[in-house]
Amino acid sequence: MKLLVTTGPTHEAIDPVRYLANRSSGKMGMAIAAAGVARGWDVVLVAGPVALPTPPGVRRLDVVSAEQMYQAVARECQAVDIAVLCAAVADYRPVAPADQKIKKSGTGGLVLELEQTKDILGAMRQPIGFRGLLAGFAAETCDLLENARRKLERKGCDLLVANDVSRPDIGFGTEDNEVTLLFRDGRAPQVLPKAAKDQIATAILACLAAMAGPRG
Ligand code: PMT
Repeated sequence: MKLLVTTGPTHEAIDPVRYLANRSSGKMGMAIAAAGVARGWDVVLVAGPVALPTPPGVRRLDVVSAEQMYQAVARECQAVDIAVLCAAVADYRPVAPADQKIKKSGTGGLVLELEQTKDILGAMRQPIGFRGLLAGFAAETCDLLENARRKLERKGCDLLVANDVSRPDIGFGTEDNEVTLLFRDGRAPQVLPKAAKDQIATAILACLAAMAGPRG
């Protein structure tokens, strides 16, 4: 079985020394990649800028921006059976990153014009054409299950991992997580109670392996 995982944040350049980003540490996606190796799967990890070692046995491709992550995922997913997109990809990027470091001018503020990045998960079915098992995450600060259910349907996922990121003890940057799995096939949501991210990762992949059938 071949698995693709994305992890970490993306950095969207404002100028040569500044960027827009978020608090993803990459731990959750690294744990999923490691859990894939533990199952004997062939794992490729597309990682945004994170300060974590690569789990043994994982082939890692480092990217910086959402556009670079899109290109790497679109290429690599052609050869995999399962894709788990866990990265916290920036939804917006500066329209025109400055070539030189932006200087302070007087006492005024600075207005940055932003444009949407490509939605990688939303593009997996079309136009990328991925036909394998597709799992996404939803990082939500309110209405967790309603928002996650909408993402499951809108983005063509088979499985959506709903993550309440309003809690300080789980989600971004933490050692533990607690998530709810939502399924396209209509079965009841499954809560994975708070546990170390590697245990959550193992449970997510067990679920995907069962969905994949005998080859999983
Ligand atoms: O990295 P850690 O510190 O361990 O934290 C883990 C985590 C909180 C980042 C992780 O568990 C998590 O919730 N990941 C999803 C983060 C996110 O950005 O969710 P979202 O609801 O904004 O995006 C929904 C889905 O679309 C995600 O699968 C995301 O990878 C994908 N997406 C989003 C935007 C975009 N431009 N392209 C995408 O593919």
